[in-house]
Amino acid sequence: MKHVTVGERKLRVLYSKQEIAQRVAEIAGEIKSAQMERLLVVPILKGSFIFAADLVRALHEKGMAPTIEFLSLSSYREATVSSGQVEILRDVEGEVEGWSVLLVDDILESGRTTAFAKDLMVARGALEVKTCVLLEKPGKRAVDLKADFVGFKCPDYFVVGYGMDMAHNYRQLPFVGVIEEN
Ligand code: IMP
Ligand code: MG
Repeated sequence: MKHVTVGERKLRVLYSKQEIAQRVAEIAGEIKSAQMERLLVVPILKGSFIFAADLVRALHEKGMAPTIEFLSLSSYREATVSSGQVEILRDVEGEVEGWSVLLVDDILESGRTTAFAKDLMVARGALEVKTCVLLEKPGKRAVDLKADFVGFKCPDYFVVGYGMDMAHNYRQLPFVGVIEEN
């Protein structure tokens, strides 16, 4: 089991850079097979920014050319436990009507964040809305939502890295890891 020291803390690598890259390429293939017309990729910031950046480049490798718009939502705040409230911090800029929206999120846990974004896109007249998450934590759903594309089914740890943070730290890590107790 691989460990990496970041500052004062020791992290256990759950998904390495190489494992993630391979899976991202596979997901891009799955998305291509779904044949969504007029594809609008909407990363839900901030947690998905690295995943989304890799994913759109993987979509390019499959010959796709999506439009990209960002939606910034917050449910977590500083805590590691969900508040249950979802807020729009920054909305998409363009029209959603007439586009097939692919929501990209980092983690599907309670499902509240992704469900909120999905309802919003549907209400604005999207042709269809599909969801793609890097990680899915099983058995944690508070709302009835299943992601269409899932990177990894993740054990119920609080994870960081590859865009995901704990109190604004660790987003820059190229892998997904778990902070070990000291
Ligand atoms: P949900 O609304 O409960 O599904 O929570 C999803 C959001 O909570 C994700 O988009 C993340 O931003 C955050 N989140 C949930 N679990 C973790 C974790 O283990 N590490 C970092 N962020 C997390
Ligand atoms: Mg998030």
